[in-house]
Amino acid sequence: MKSPDSPGTGILSALYGAVRALQLYPAENEVVTRALQEVREQADQILDREGGLSIWFAGNYIFVNDLQVRLDLHDYAALAAFREVFRGHGVGRMEADPKARADDWQSFLMAIAADPAPGQPPLEALRTELGSRSVSSISVGPPSPLFEGSEGEEAVEAARRTYSRSVKVARDMMEGLVLGKAIGARRAERAVLSVVDRVLQEPATMLGMLTLRDFDDHSYVHSVNVSILSVALGDYLGLNREQLFELGFAALFHDIGKVLIPPAVLNKMGWLNDEEWRLVSQHPDFGLLMLFNVEGFEELPYRGMLAVYEHHMKPDLSGYPRVIRRRRQGLFARIIAITEAYDAAISNYSKQFLPCSPDEAVRQLREAETGAYDRVLTRAFVNMMGIFPVATLVILDTGEMGVVVAPNPNVKALSRPLVRIIATAEGERVGDGPIRDLTERDPDSGEYRRSIARSTDPARYGLNVADHVA
Ligand SMILES: [Fe+2]
Ligand SMILES: [Fe+2]
Repeated sequence: MKSPDSPGTGILSALYGAVRALQLYPAENEVVTRALQEVREQADQILDREGGLSIWFAGNYIFVNDLQVRLDLHDYAALAAFREVFRGHGVGRMEADPKARADDWQSFLMAIAADPAPGQPPLEALRTELGSRSVSSISVGPPSPLFEGSEGEEAVEAARRTYSRSVKVARDMMEGLVLGKAIGARRAERAVLSVVDRVLQEPATMLGMLTLRDFDDHSYVHSVNVSILSVALGDYLGLNREQLFELGFAALFHDIGKVLIPPAVLNKMGWLNDEEWRLVSQHPDFGLLMLFNVEGFEELPYRGMLAVYEHHMKPDLSGYPRVIRRRRQGLFARIIAITEAYDAAISNYSKQFLPCSPDEAVRQLREAETGAYDRVLTRAFVNMMGIFPVATLVILDTGEMGVVVAPNPNVKALSRPLVRIIATAEGERVGDGPIRDLTERDPDSGEYRRSIARSTDPARYGLNVADHVA
């Protein structure tokens, strides 16, 4: 779901496009001319309407004329890279007035697209450069100390809070239902709403939470992960907030029926016998019945309840519960089937299988037999996650190590995500290094500057990748 109505994204993507074009091609190249044209059109629209244009970078947020620009996962990817370009020049804000002409934009963007000149502080160097090109209609300033350094961490903190609160709600709900003193629907609804809002605001940060391993309660962590992934996919497919809420709710409680299955059966190593399998395969029926017992709903969440019942049914109806009459597995259940398979693959919930890396999990979904998962939704999921999903730890062909922070904004470049460098080729840890766009090419040879050589296991390096995503 692109957000065409989100004010500010137009000018931001035009500016980013122009910076990228100038980094890749000489100024007289047609790609550059077109990109600059786009910048002028977008800027003029705003300048005509509002008499000025100001862009602020505040931690992970970007404001255009004082309005926060809402970023979805794809904008987020491009804009994170765009922000890094400005940051490299020490710029926290820029302003343009209606006198800004084509040459001014071109000079300004050429200066920004170039690496900061050595010798003096980057912001001063940039100002000198703009002065020497006599650009006076576009000015730059330092980041506000109010904003710098805190928002990224705050976003991660907020995401963590939402995450652990949801784990707790899932636990209280499930354990409570067994003991006959379940929490009310209201608390569950609030938890789901905050998942939805966090996913809408900071999708990459929330998806980064999937790799948190600080919780030992497998089934509740699984529930929350599936909820986050389902809401992200639902948003990607264009569902509205109300629908995302219903979907998030169903996802959070999709396995609630499992609390009625003895742990000895649930956690059994090796094959289940017929009787045990019969029990396990009843968890969708149990779940549906249990949700009827939750008190405090203003209106029963029928769509979500149906999804709980159908989540193992499979599109070709070969799953369970067995159905007698032909029916169609609902959209929410189809979404949950995919996201839960992905989460189960990357996690070590079952002691029988080793968790696989996120890229391997995506590959398994792509290659699953037809009939197991909805093909169209699977493709959408892969497009959303990228071949190398957010939080995959990767080794690049340069020898650098990095963490995937977002899929490439260009959906054709699925295997070339944006990667934050966390260790140099020499193996030196750099903490939160720069974000690199893997579609970047060397202007002389035309070759990609960096490619992913392979993904690797964060545990081998004692890393918590979630820390590097936001
Ligand atoms: Fe299930
Ligand atoms: Fe599940």
